[in-house]
Amino acid sequence: MVDDPLAAHLSAHYDLGFERDRLFRDGEPRLELTRTLELLDRFLPSAPARLIDVGGGPGAYAAIWARQGYDVHLYDVLELHVQQAQQASDAQPEHSFTAQVADARSIPEPDASADAVVLLGPLYHLTEPAERAAALLEAWRILKPGGVVAAVGISRSSALLDGLWRGWLGYPVFRAIAERDLVDGQHRNPDPIRYPQWFTTAYFHRPEELVAEVKDAGFDAVSLLGIEGPGWLMQEHWSDPDRREQMLLAARAVESEPTMSGLSAHLLAVGTKPGAVQPG
Ligand SMILES: C[S@@+](CC[C@H](N)C(=O)[O-])C[C@H]1O[C@@H](n2cnc3c(N)ncnc32)[C@H](O)[C@@H]1O
Repeated sequence: MVDDPLAAHLSAHYDLGFERDRLFRDGEPRLELTRTLELLDRFLPSAPARLIDVGGGPGAYAAIWARQGYDVHLYDVLELHVQQAQQASDAQPEHSFTAQVADARSIPEPDASADAVVLLGPLYHLTEPAERAAALLEAWRILKPGGVVAAVGISRSSALLDGLWRGWLGYPVFRAIAERDLVDGQHRNPDPIRYPQWFTTAYFHRPEELVAEVKDAGFDAVSLLGIEGPGWLMQEHWSDPDRREQMLLAARAVESEPTMSGLSAHLLAVGTKPGAVQPG
């Protein structure tokens, strides 16, 4: 693992092994995966393009993008996730991708070499603004002019909403976590081994903060989209086709509505590295 004080928190949480299947139920993509793919499909350059998946975890997205014909390179700070991603790649030899340990702030890719960089995870766990800025500047460095960055943050009020829906706000320990999230975005689980469902050390974004961070790293044309919409709070209905359609309808209906984006569990900011060569 890369030597970093954060790595201990990450290992304590992710070594429990939940991450590999988190995005699926009975082998089917859940709301977060469905919507993230749907949104990124609009913004990513067409395949084949060089796509760098930073914080790619066990490789659920990388495997899908590789099957779509992208030239995918996954980096993650955790050895376990890199091994799992390698297994996912080995399971589809016709559509393989590479997986390597690296920190989002130092990715071993040449300058101006990628068509797209996706960060679906590192900004959650880089809890200080300067750390998140370093990861976004690294994305900027490795992107070609005109390349696309897609950066996801966890919503500031996600613990409050999740706790409300599940009744966890009745637990003083959880209530304190959710209340602090709302004050400064710093999500801290005092006992991540006992309560892994309450996540680990993280930063939870306001929508406008995520946009500002991506712009401050030098990206243009930054769009902000709510990923799941309000339906993530009723995911027990996801297996009902009619309710599933309603969840997707609701997510699409409010994805760009500023007063509603914070209701999603995850926020997506997409921007472009300036300087694309104009055709003709
Ligand atoms: C919630 S998981 C998301 C995994 C995957 N991208 C997804 O969306 O399903 C967050 C991932 O970010 C990784 N991560 C956190 N901080 C990182 C950093 N500084 N550099 C690289 N990866 C990081 C974690 O190890 C973990 O695999």
